[in-house]
Amino acid sequence: MTRAASWLCLILLTITLMPTHCDKKARPVFTKCGGRFNDTHGYFHTPNFPRRFPVPIRCQWIIEAPAGKAIVVYLTQFYLRAGLTASEHAYFVNDTHHYFIKDIGLISFDKRLLYVKSVKPVLLLELSLDEMANNNMRVMDYYLDVFGFNVTYEIIDQDEEFRSDLCSVYNCTFNGDCYASREFLNYSCQCLPGFYGEKCQFGPYCDPKANVSLCDGGLQCSQ
Ligand SMILES: *[C@@H]1O[C@H](CO)[C@@H](O)[C@H](O)[C@H]1NC(C)=O
Ligand SMILES: *[C@@H]1O[C@H](CO)[C@@H](O)[C@H](O)[C@H]1NC(C)=O
Ligand SMILES: *[C@@H]1O[C@H](CO)[C@@H](O)[C@H](O)[C@H]1NC(C)=O
Ligand SMILES: *[C@@H]1O[C@H](CO)[C@@H](O)[C@H](O)[C@H]1NC(C)=O
Ligand SMILES: *[C@@H]1O[C@H](CO)[C@@H](O)[C@H](O)[C@H]1NC(C)=O
Ligand SMILES: *[C@@H]1O[C@H](CO)[C@@H](O)[C@H](O)[C@H]1NC(C)=O
Repeated sequence: MTRAASWLCLILLTITLMPTHCDKKARPVFTKCGGRFNDTHGYFHTPNFPRRFPVPIRCQWIIEAPAGKAIVVYLTQFYLRAGLTASEHAYFVNDTHHYFIKDIGLISFDKRLLYVKSVKPVLLLELSLDEMANNNMRVMDYYLDVFGFNVTYEIIDQDEEFRSDLCSVYNCTFNGDCYASREFLNYSCQCLPGFYGEKCQFGPYCDPKANVSLCDGGLQCSQ
């Protein structure tokens, strides 16, 4: 083979092999997310919420409470089915330097949880997801595709009950979002356009104002 031919051969070989090589290269893991919180209340969400977040992703949200207090995370807007776990710690500096106490486990949309509570000094929420796949809950009917979560946290007394006005997308009949008011005094549903009612239960298919009741099986709209 001439020198030119062998060069050509080498180039062709490189081109042929390149895609395979690229496919095998692992995608970078997105880690510019999460955070540390020690205020009396606040909220945090997945990157780009309510839009798609990058995957693969690894994030840590670390919430710290003063001694003798409890931490509660309210799952006001929560659409993840996999990937998020919670654990309690005596302290947490980083992955190698922490004092682990207890696993709370998977926080999943399917469990219909309203909140996660910890009476230990640190509550760690860890998101680890390689692909979106079927791990996101789609709110199909209204062409709304929401990814991840946007949740609030509050530092409360250890024996304090979780708040009675607490809501989630279930409480808002999937027709609205649950938000904390400014200063976190109240939680309530804010309805999507076309819906109304305390639980956003009234809308195009069930509207007492317009005398429309097209609910499942022709039943009466419930209050
Ligand atoms: C909260 O965190 C900030 C920044 O990390 C720190 O300066 C502050 O001392 C902390 N406050 C409490 C009450 O731990
Ligand atoms: C974790 O924190 C400890 C204590 O501050 C430090 O010595 C160690 O280098 C940190 N490790 C990593 C992986 O950041
Ligand atoms: C929200 O729904 C849960 C059950 O999913 C219920 O326990 C709770 O009382 C409801 N909250 C409100 C404010 O209606
Ligand atoms: C996230 O939740 C907080 C508190 O409920 C709310 O004020 C904020 O607007 C929400 N952000 C998004 C993007 O929904
Ligand atoms: C919000 O909460 C405060 C204090 O808990 C209460 O006084 C007020 O009436 C509430 N507002 C609404 C709109 O529910
Ligand atoms: C609502 O519809 C029902 C049956 O279609 C009718 O009997 C009733 O009079 C209507 N009420 C109003 C306020 O229009």
